[in-house]
Amino acid sequence: MKELSVGILGVGRYSPERRLTNRDLEQMVDTSDEWIVTRTGIRERRIAAPHEATSDLACAAAVRALDAAGVAAEEVDLIIVATITPDMFFPSTACLVQDRLGARNAAAFDVSAACSGFIYALASASGMIAAGMYRNALVIGAECLSRVTDYSDRNTCILFGDGAGAAVLGPVPAGRGFRSFVLGADGSGGELLKLPGGGSRIPASAESVAQRLHFMKMNGREVFKFAVRVMGNAAEEALHKAGLTKEDIDLLIPHQANIRIIQSALERLGLPEEKCVVNVDRYGNISAASIPVALAEAVEDGRVREGDRLVLVGFGGGLTWGASVLIW
Ligand code: UT7
Repeated sequence: MKELSVGILGVGRYSPERRLTNRDLEQMVDTSDEWIVTRTGIRERRIAAPHEATSDLACAAAVRALDAAGVAAEEVDLIIVATITPDMFFPSTACLVQDRLGARNAAAFDVSAACSGFIYALASASGMIAAGMYRNALVIGAECLSRVTDYSDRNTCILFGDGAGAAVLGPVPAGRGFRSFVLGADGSGGELLKLPGGGSRIPASAESVAQRLHFMKMNGREVFKFAVRVMGNAAEEALHKAGLTKEDIDLLIPHQANIRIIQSALERLGLPEEKCVVNVDRYGNISAASIPVALAEAVEDGRVREGDRLVLVGFGGGLTWGASVLIW
């Protein structure tokens, strides 16, 4: 039996209104606009309103993606939300989204792979569709990182923001769609980026709150080294699996964590900046939402044309990484 081609039928994104600028952060911690811009490329991030949680951001992006795809909520068979900031432990954010959208025919679950989560979720949904289990899947990357960011820690608080991006997956003509996936993990590096409190190891207590264990902790320098190594490797491996070379890339859509990490990936792949989507200056690092938001912006801006060869690549806590080659 010939395997079905699976691709993206429509994308959507949502960013909260409120902007947190580098100038704002200068009032909160010992930092400067100049330090943040030169070390990270970030100028501002979006912050969810007090009444907004991750599922709200996810739904807003999902509605736009369904509309762009021309797929009704009842036609969705599967919803996967990639997030490390779910509304709550359970029910999953995907179940909350399913209910709100009225996607009553869809199975729903969350994926936890930090900033690589969207690629992990795409691979899962694409595999299930290709296997004939489902026809239409809604894959969402959504985060409210501001809720787990320690705004007294200058090592992390300058980096993260909130947002959501979504893609509707379904059958596409042969030769189009996803050509390869590469997923990887190295759990031995889990200590480098984590949120220690609130799980079964350190349940929430007055003490855990006082010790600020419900906020993200990061060894930035080590994560940086890992990111630089893995971005190039994963992208090259995905190209190889797809039977393509670096010269074939029309557009690179990397995880938006730090402009210097993106630049090193461009160098490794021998790509000019015009072939790369960059929005880290406007959103900071929005973890699982970063790649789908960048993809949706590129589509809106007319930067993605039919037949273009896209490479999506990301890395994150876990440690994890993922890459995919996609013919639009
Ligand atoms: O999606 C995955 C999530 N994580 C990442 O992608 C993070 C990857 N890592 C990075 O992006 C970078 O490592 C950072 C942007 C986090 C830090 O940049 P760096 O060039 O690696 O700086 P550093 O950690 O080596 O720190 C250099 C100096 C230190 O001072 P000393 O020890 O040299 O005196 C820091 O204390 O910069 C200091 N520093 C700051 N100064 C002003 C650290 N954060 C700040 C800050 N403002 N916000």
